[in-house]
Amino acid sequence: MLTNLAVRDIETLVHPYTNLAVHREVGPLVLERGKGVYVYDVSGKDYIEGMAGLWCTSLGYSNEELCDVAYEQLKKLPFTHIFSGRSHDPAIELAEKLKEIAPVPISKVFYGASGSDANDTQVKLVWYMNNALGRPKKKKIISRLKGYHGVTVASASLTGLPANHTDFDLPLPGILHTSSPHHYRFAQPGESELDFSARLAAELDEMIQREGPDTVAAFIAEPVMGAGGAVTPPEGYFEAINAVLAKYDILFIADEVITGFGRTGEMFGTTTYKMKADTLSCAKALTSAYFPLSAVLINEPVYEVLVDQSRKIGTFGHGNTYAGHPVGCAVAVKTLEIYQRDRIIEHVRKVAPTFLQRLTRLAEHPLVGEARGVGLIGGVELVKDKASKAQFEAKKAVAAKSVSFAQDEGLILRAMGGDRVAFCPPLVITEAEIGEMFDRYERALARTLDWVKAEGLLAG
Ligand SMILES: Cc1ncc(COP(=O)(O)O)c(C=O)c1O
Repeated sequence: MLTNLAVRDIETLVHPYTNLAVHREVGPLVLERGKGVYVYDVSGKDYIEGMAGLWCTSLGYSNEELCDVAYEQLKKLPFTHIFSGRSHDPAIELAEKLKEIAPVPISKVFYGASGSDANDTQVKLVWYMNNALGRPKKKKIISRLKGYHGVTVASASLTGLPANHTDFDLPLPGILHTSSPHHYRFAQPGESELDFSARLAAELDEMIQREGPDTVAAFIAEPVMGAGGAVTPPEGYFEAINAVLAKYDILFIADEVITGFGRTGEMFGTTTYKMKADTLSCAKALTSAYFPLSAVLINEPVYEVLVDQSRKIGTFGHGNTYAGHPVGCAVAVKTLEIYQRDRIIEHVRKVAPTFLQRLTRLAEHPLVGEARGVGLIGGVELVKDKASKAQFEAKKAVAAKSVSFAQDEGLILRAMGGDRVAFCPPLVITEAEIGEMFDRYERALARTLDWVKAEGLLAG
């Protein structure tokens, strides 16, 4: 029976990333409040937020300090834009802090309101810069199959997932996709992680040669692929990729929208994986998701081009109303202060072994082909046959079924293509809560196995 709220939802909302036809039958999960790593639905049932919302509520759900700082800023100056040289203290202070903690040499910060618009900015900066430098042919951008970079026109083009392209007339021309670095799924039989990484780097090199190095401007990658399945890179991957990019003067954009601010056990995934990035996009945990805010961190050579172009054109013609919103910046400054004061990264390192031990233990289950992670992020792949890695038919949506059983058990997770399930809890999760999270998923997996057998999905 659908509740009154559920009926009103169905009659009024188009939900992102939702099967809208199925939604009309099953209705929404309506959440009402949150505390720590728990959220509660309108009936009062508790759920561990095993996905930190959408990889973002790093400090959990009831951080009074973040609420207070937002309220204080709302009372003091709820809005001012930063167009036409206008500014405010929180925007300046946040930019200083970001420069201080950035994992690569950074000159300036450009704000946005979402990860998608940050990556759209990255694309536009690449094009703008190469026109300014008199290299109008050097415009192509290489991303990766199963990479996720957002949904606006350019960032959806960077995204390497079919649902973001099909019938949207995307990707844009000039945005190319190289192979996914998912060793479990795409390595050849017996191929080591290092050999797989070397093969992918050689493939990237060939793609650049084929396209013409003078036409390829940038490469973008997430340190850990998120929406593509919570996939950690194979050993030696970014070292091998760094070498190829350096050969052809190709800008390396790190998309740290998920991995930024402690997720991997370092402040940035760029450091964890030794990525030699030139520019970086971040969002989400920048404000612990208490306010929409993103930032593009650019280096000095890119900044110099923007200044020169302004001299020539008369302005830097890019930016949106809410870029550098004072409330968002004030919340972000406080968030970064809390990360430092409460030693959140040390906490992640302390609890990560328990998280990873419980995660990898899932691989003992008959349906789990792979379970792998880093820090407090991990992915699990459900398969029909572990020996051959044979997959279930996509339309049986086995991972989604396990996630709906998890929801019954009081755990929110996310299913993704290829029958993968992501774990990405708030960074403040305790060891006891990690234990409870995996206990709940193990119960969900047991129910999934019963269901799979009852449906006859293991046969054939
Ligand atoms: C790596 C990455 N980049 C970009 C985005 C897009 O961010 P947003 O949804 O805020 O536009 C996401 C969103 O999940 C992401 O995971």
